[in-house]
Amino acid sequence: MALPDFSRRAETLEWMDDDSVDLETFRDCLKDLAKVNAATLAHRPTLAFLDDLHGAGLWPSGRALTVLDVGSGYGDGLRLIDRWAERRGLAVSLTGLDRNPWAAHAARAATPAGRPIVWATCDLFDYEGSPDVILSSLFTHHLDDDQLVRFLAFMDRKAKAGWLANDLLRHPFAWGGFALLSTVMQWHRFVRHDGPISIRRSFAPADWRAYLARAGVEGASIRRRFPFRLCVSKTMAP
Ligand SMILES: C[S@@+](CC[C@H](N)C(=O)[O-])C[C@H]1O[C@@H](n2cnc3c(N)ncnc32)[C@H](O)[C@@H]1O
Repeated sequence: MALPDFSRRAETLEWMDDDSVDLETFRDCLKDLAKVNAATLAHRPTLAFLDDLHGAGLWPSGRALTVLDVGSGYGDGLRLIDRWAERRGLAVSLTGLDRNPWAAHAARAATPAGRPIVWATCDLFDYEGSPDVILSSLFTHHLDDDQLVRFLAFMDRKAKAGWLANDLLRHPFAWGGFALLSTVMQWHRFVRHDGPISIRRSFAPADWRAYLARAGVEGASIRRRFPFRLCVSKTMAP
C-alpha cells in the first residue's frame, strides 16, 4: 500500500464531523477518545502551559481564572484541569464549548455535580465571551486553512492572559503507529477511522508559521511535544 502524501494537509473529512451522527455513537466515540488522550499523554502540554502561566504571574488575584476549551468533546480535559487547580488551591471557572450538542450532553453526564464547569453548544466563532485563557486539544485540525487563520486571530483578540492550540504533528510514524494501536486496543470504529485522518489533516511547524503570519499574530511559540504533538501558544504580557 502506498503511503499517503504527508507534505501537505489532507482534506478528507472525519466521520465525527457529520452532523447526522446520533448521540450514542458520538458519546461512545468521545469516551474512547478520552482513553486515547490518556494513553497518548495528550493533556500534559495543556497542564504545562497553565503551570507556566501561573509561574509567570498571569493568574488573576482575587477571582477565578476563566478558561474556554474550544471543541471540548467529552470534557476530560477540563475535568483534569479542575482537579489540577483544586490540588493547587487555584480558583478556576471553566467553559467547554462544542458545536455538536451531543458533546455537552455527554460531558455534563460525566462531570460530578458542583464543579466549576459549564458546557456550551455553539460554533466557536459565535462565542461572545472574553476569557483569560483559550485552550483547545485535537481541535484545530478540524478547521480548514482560512478558518485556522480566523481562529488564531480570534484567540489573540479575546484571550486576556494567553492561549494554546494543542494538536497533532503530521508525521508518517504517528499515522502508522496510531492505526496499529487503535486496532490492537479495539477503540471505537470512529476513532479507528478518524484518528489516522486527523494525523493527515494536522500540521507541520511551517504550516503554523504561515497561519500566524496571515493572522498577524506575533509572539507565539510553536513546540513539538512527545509523542507527536505540535502545540502553538502565546502568553500575554502581564
Ligand atoms: C476530535 S474532537 C476533540 C475533543 C476533545 N477536545 C479531545 O481532545 O478529546 C473535536 C471536537 O471539536 C468539535 N468542533 C468541530 N468544529 C467545531 C466548531 N467550529 N466549533 C466548536 N466545536 C467544534 C467537534 O464537535 C468535536 O467534538
